[in-house]
Amino acid sequence: MNKIAIIGAGRVGEAAAHLLAQKSLAKDVVLVDVRPGIAEGVALDIQECAPLFGFDVRLHGSTDLAAIVDSDIVVITAGKPRQPGMSRMGVLGENNKILLSIAEGVRQYAAGAIVIVVSNPVDILTYQLWKHTGFPKHRVIGQAGVLDAARMASFVALETGYSVQDISTMVLGGHGDSMVPMTRYTCISGIPISHFLDDETIEKIVKRTREGGAEILALKQTSSAYDAPGAAIVEMVEAIHYDRKRLLPCVALLDGEYGHHDIAAGVPVVLGAKGLESVVELDLEPAEVDALNASLSRLREDLKTLDKSS
Ligand code: LAC
Repeated sequence: MNKIAIIGAGRVGEAAAHLLAQKSLAKDVVLVDVRPGIAEGVALDIQECAPLFGFDVRLHGSTDLAAIVDSDIVVITAGKPRQPGMSRMGVLGENNKILLSIAEGVRQYAAGAIVIVVSNPVDILTYQLWKHTGFPKHRVIGQAGVLDAARMASFVALETGYSVQDISTMVLGGHGDSMVPMTRYTCISGIPISHFLDDETIEKIVKRTREGGAEILALKQTSSAYDAPGAAIVEMVEAIHYDRKRLLPCVALLDGEYGHHDIAAGVPVVLGAKGLESVVELDLEPAEVDALNASLSRLREDLKTLDKSS
């Protein structure tokens, strides 16, 4: 992999760029931000870590989207951040406008790239990016499930005391209140968590996972989470870079999978060198189907709101 671009040099973009550089996942990492000096400053700050960590990655910053030219992967983190008490949907109108201008730039300068959308509301913006670039759906992926599943695994580790290395979790649906954490597929070394935790504790973990972003925002007040979101981006990039065929929850364009068309939502997918290589369809129980359908109905409502306002 030669070049990774990160559009939006806010805290999530910076955290991701730093980790990508430390892991030497590309020769060049380019940050773009509309605010003059920000991307350049972030890039230089990370560049100056190079002798300390021993990486030979070159970092560049720019206000000009043309700097993403010929990137292999484009990560979009740009957008208005949520304020405390604000839902992800609260930022929809403004972030949709930002996303559309970025989509135009990606089409123009990086037409062969795999795009990872991180900006919120991520399910909606992933759909919009796909629609407005015309890219094939395997090259448009949204990041939320990897973060949500990591949060869930952290909470399972905190409740049980077991190593995160042995914990695997799965999350479906939208990134937000309608998220569907899949407790049935949450295991410690293959053993379902119901073996270790009572129903009440599992329910507490589910609620905390759904509200994971809001919990951090309420604590910090002036910033959303960025360390875990940055690390989640890097896990996805690594899967693509090394063609690992990781099975991870990501936002995918659905074309009949789970009975849905023309919408993007969180489902298990396989990530490899081609991007989102396939969607894995799970055999869901009736209550899980209902929860997933309810989550997707909310996303459809949000898309309709956008259609009306445009
Ligand atoms: C979160 C925001 C970034 O979940 O969506 O922390």
